Amino acid sequence: MAKKHILVVPGDGIGQEVTAVGKKVLDKIAEKFGHEFTYDEALIGHVAIEATGEALPEESLNKMRASDAVLFGAVGHPKYDNDPSAKVRPEQGLLKMRKELGLYANLRPIKLFDELLGASSIKPEVLKGADILFFRELTGDIYFGEKGRENNGDTAFDIARYSRFEVERIARKAFEAARTRRKKLCSVDKANVIETSRLWREVIQKIAPEYPDVEVEHQFVDATAMLLIKDPRRFDVVVTANLFGDILTDEASQIAGSMGMLASASIGDGTGVYEPIHGSAHDITGKGVANPLASVLSAALLLDISFGMKEESEAVINAVDQVLKAGFRTGDIADAGTPKDQVLGTEAMGEKVLSYL
Ligand code: NAD
Ligand code: IPM
Ligand code: MN
Repeated sequence: MAKKHILVVPGDGIGQEVTAVGKKVLDKIAEKFGHEFTYDEALIGHVAIEATGEALPEESLNKMRASDAVLFGAVGHPKYDNDPSAKVRPEQGLLKMRKELGLYANLRPIKLFDELLGASSIKPEVLKGADILFFRELTGDIYFGEKGRENNGDTAFDIARYSRFEVERIARKAFEAARTRRKKLCSVDKANVIETSRLWREVIQKIAPEYPDVEVEHQFVDATAMLLIKDPRRFDVVVTANLFGDILTDEASQIAGSMGMLASASIGDGTGVYEPIHGSAHDITGKGVANPLASVLSAALLLDISFGMKEESEAVINAVDQVLKAGFRTGDIADAGTPKDQVLGTEAMGEKVLSYL
């Protein structure tokens, strides 16, 4: 029996809808395994701006620091997406959370459930068995350049910045993970052009001899974008910078069938944050059709990584597998062969997962 305090931070749009399901799953796990999970909620993003004027109020940050783990949804609102001049933006809340909590490593597992082979637009024979773990650096790069950014209305710039220390700590996490998997590490950069990438590659080359059991390759980001679709099975662990990791993992979500399937763990030295890789998805907000499985699988990562509850985490993944095996789908992962009555909304999909727990 363990006692844990979880902060639920749904944020905006479908973040609200899917995080409610993720929380129910955590609740059910506590009941089933005899743990005591207590919860609190905090504001971030557009909903926080509306309530307080800030995208991440100090109160939310304090609650995050005081909790054992955070289950986060998404931020974003069309109001800001279409207004480049907006000074306070929902996304700033997310970036501040990552920076303030020191969440430098974002683990994005590309887990393909066999049942979803047909949901992807990539050929099943190319996909079958694909299993990739991305380590996306999360607190550096062009997102957080020291001299920041500027836009005088005529010219704009952003500064990309990495220190040796920042590259080394994420690289070591990726090497360690590769050791527990198929022992292959692909480091992705743009060292043929970009200075931060040259430092990145040099650091990887320098520490690689400390992991002689791990086979290392370096790929350029443009080629990686191609190889992910051409032959996803060639990858085991991939480590890359913040911006490249953001883009490549949205692409890689198509290996797993949908953005709605991809969970992630943002970790550092303190509280871990568990979050779907997708955004607030305004196009489907309020329709009750969002796939909640990315949040459910994020809850599984939370149990495993922050609480060391392997069995509980596997129970969640297994429940998702059972639901998919039974033929239930949300719209984004349904295919031509899915009977209409097996296509579920967000809440109904959540209930199905609970029923298999
Ligand atoms: P998005 O991830 O919100 O949506 C991309 C597409 O995928 C949309 O068609 C959407 O309907 C679909 N999709 C995403 N999640 C889904 C789910 N669970 N089930 C079914 N379909 C799903 O990306 P976007 O449209 O580029 O951005 C929308 C907003 O979200 C923007 O304001 C952006 O800044 C924000 N955003 C936030 C995060 C985050 O909070 N981590 C991540 C990405 C984008
Ligand atoms: C993500 C998102 C964020 C990012 C945005 C909303 C700041 O796309 O979590 O992948 O770029 O990191
Ligand atoms: Mn993204």
